[in-house]
This record gives sequence, C-alpha cells and structure tokens, in this order.
Amino acid sequence: MLITIPNVLDPTQIAHARKLLAEADWVDGRVTAGHQSALAKDNMQLSEDHPVAQQLGDMILQALGQNPLFISSALPMKVFPPLFNSYSTGQKFGVHVDNAIRHVKGSSHRVRSDLSATLFLTPPEDYDGGELVIEDTYGVHTVKLPLGHMVLYPSSSLHRVEPITRGRRVSSFFWIQSMIRSDAQRTLLFDLDNATQCVNRDMPTNAVAVQLTGIYHNLLRQWAEV
Ligand code: NI
Repeated sequence: MLITIPNVLDPTQIAHARKLLAEADWVDGRVTAGHQSALAKDNMQLSEDHPVAQQLGDMILQALGQNPLFISSALPMKVFPPLFNSYSTGQKFGVHVDNAIRHVKGSSHRVRSDLSATLFLTPPEDYDGGELVIEDTYGVHTVKLPLGHMVLYPSSSLHRVEPITRGRRVSSFFWIQSMIRSDAQRTLLFDLDNATQCVNRDMPTNAVAVQLTGIYHNLLRQWAEV
C-alpha cells in the first residue's frame, strides 16, 4: 500500500524546519547508503548526529505520534530517527531497494524497515524533476507532494528519485518498523479500520459496529508483534 499523509507539520513547524535546514551544513549522502545503493546515490544529507537533524526529527516524530492516519496506516512499533536529504540540480538517486535493517547511530537500537517515508519540505513549484518513483506490484507510482505532506510506501519496493532539472528539493526520510510485518495484512487492517469508523459514524447504535471493532482487534491480536 502506498498512502499520502497530508499536513504532517503545521505552517509554523514547516517555516521553522525550512529556516534551520537552509542554514545547516550538508554532507555527501552516501554516508548512510548500503553498498549497492551508494552506487546509485547522488545527494546531500545532514549527518545523523547533526543537532538540526535531531531537533527537527523529534518534532516530526512528535507530530506523527498524534496523527491518526499515520498510526492507523503504519501501525508503528519503532520509527527510525528522521534523516534529511537535499537534491540540487543534476542530483538524483537511481533505482534501489532500502536496507532491511537500520542501525540507529550511537546506540544498539535496530529498526526493521517495513515502511519507508518521505516528508516533502520544499514546495513542488520550487523545483523541476525530483519525483519519487516507486515500483510495486500494482505498477509504477510517481510522487511529488505539496509542502508538509508525506508518502508512506513498502520498503521492499524498488524506488528512485528522478534528477532535479531546476531548483533544489529538501525532504525528510526515515523508516518504520510496523507491528504488522506483512504489507497485505497491514492493508487489510487499515481498510477494516476505515470501514469500522464509517459504520461507527453513520450507525453508532448498530450492533455491527461492535462486531467490526471486535474483528479488527482480534485480527490485530493474531498478527501483531509488540
Ligand atoms: Ni530508498
């Protein structure tokens, strides 16, 4: 499942992030790439222990922790501390697959990448190219989102960032280990959750609302790792 989560950050948070990112020191993005993806990668990043990355990463994690759509679609167990990348004109990230296990720098924590996230921190009119292109079993998806919106997609998919032909694109990117490892099971739970919420809203006194809620939680009990 590929899903867009709108307005992860509010305008004040976005302005704060863009100001700090504009003033930050960037390094070659190959520092966090695996062997294969280092061959395809041409961008800049904030180092993982950069204070701006840590401060803005915490802000993003706090926002996501209060975002019902993120929680119901990702069913997160662990989230990798958000990283930040920048693509200037001519830069790109060729087709690759994300590493399955990510180590959090300076700690013993590991996160299995079930879902990959990109949070767009540049308005789309400020650059040309730079689309995130994701290939999954349903075909090829081209993603270029408004400022402050985020895409979530299975980390198992092949994906790339098209070359920038004008301007500069800055984003946050990170990975989520879900309580539900399987994308198919997670998608079913998300669909069931949405259907249950519709029934709860439209027919709150109908017994089927309780039944659907029960089925949701019993499937979660069957499938979740916690
Ligand atoms: Ni990637």
